[in-house]
Amino acid sequence: MKVFVNKRIPEIGIHMLEDAGLEVFIPENENLSHDEWLSCCKNNDVILSVGGDYKYDKDFFNEFPNIKAIALFSVGFDHVDIKEANRRNIPVGNTPDVLSKATSDIAFLLMQSVARRAGYNFEKVKSGNWGSFDPLHALGQELYGKTLGIFGLGRIGFEMAKKAQKAFDMDIIYHNRHCNEEAENELNARYVSFDELVQESDVLSIHANFKPDQKELFNAGVFSKMKPNAIFINTARGGFHHQTDLYEALTDGKIWGAGLDVTNPEPIYKEDPILELSNVCVLPHIGSATIEARSGMAKLAAENLIAFAKGEKMPHCANPEVYSG
Ligand code: 8YV
Repeated sequence: MKVFVNKRIPEIGIHMLEDAGLEVFIPENENLSHDEWLSCCKNNDVILSVGGDYKYDKDFFNEFPNIKAIALFSVGFDHVDIKEANRRNIPVGNTPDVLSKATSDIAFLLMQSVARRAGYNFEKVKSGNWGSFDPLHALGQELYGKTLGIFGLGRIGFEMAKKAQKAFDMDIIYHNRHCNEEAENELNARYVSFDELVQESDVLSIHANFKPDQKELFNAGVFSKMKPNAIFINTARGGFHHQTDLYEALTDGKIWGAGLDVTNPEPIYKEDPILELSNVCVLPHIGSATIEARSGMAKLAAENLIAFAKGEKMPHCANPEVYSG
């Protein structure tokens, strides 16, 4: 079975595939033109897909009926038309769990960076403006005992809530499609309506899987209902927030600050005025960027393809319904 891996990943995943007898193709130049990408898809049986740039939609599946399975190098699968994959019996693997700690670490880091204005202060130092001691300048806020609202309390949200509770004794509220009993029992998390989440959170952090009907759910109307001291954190997908509305909410003092590891669009334009704000910290989508998480992702993606090659179920599958008949 021939595997197209569109970007180099930790060696462990490649070794696993090769040891299992799969033929691995990784292009020399990873910045493939559209035509190169198409030809790689044509000449292989399965894809180990790295990054969210390529969309696996109806047109893709029509053009490449030779592709029998996709193993994503991500937990998110918003770039795959799952219904279409199901219709064609194509399993789509993903990489849950192994990145939950690393991604929630970034949410936690952004929460603190914004609360203590780390980005702004670092910029001051770098530009030679350390300044003299001013008891009133650039004061942050403390998080002790405040309320953390989690939108989408799954594996990553749980890790974020656990850290926030241990470090700052924060109260946890959440809004989900389903109740999370583990979080309710272990963290005393309280399920609330979407409006309550928005109105009661001192920090609101998004950890949900992105669905098209949630596009720009966090917009002017929502920001205007948040507390003026609220910190908005998005480490999930940039599509969740309306970036101009967020900019206006931040400049109008509707909310206190924002920490983004994902932007809308992504990558963010360097001219985006949000980058000029002192109450914002933006990172370039590095949630899973640790040696441990990326190695774990490489292993899971390889395990998925090896299982597929043996005619077995992918152990980490975004559309397990393909196996139910
Ligand atoms: C990846 C991610 O870095 O897993 C996800 O859903 O967003 C990140 O871990 C990104 O998708 C590139 O593959």
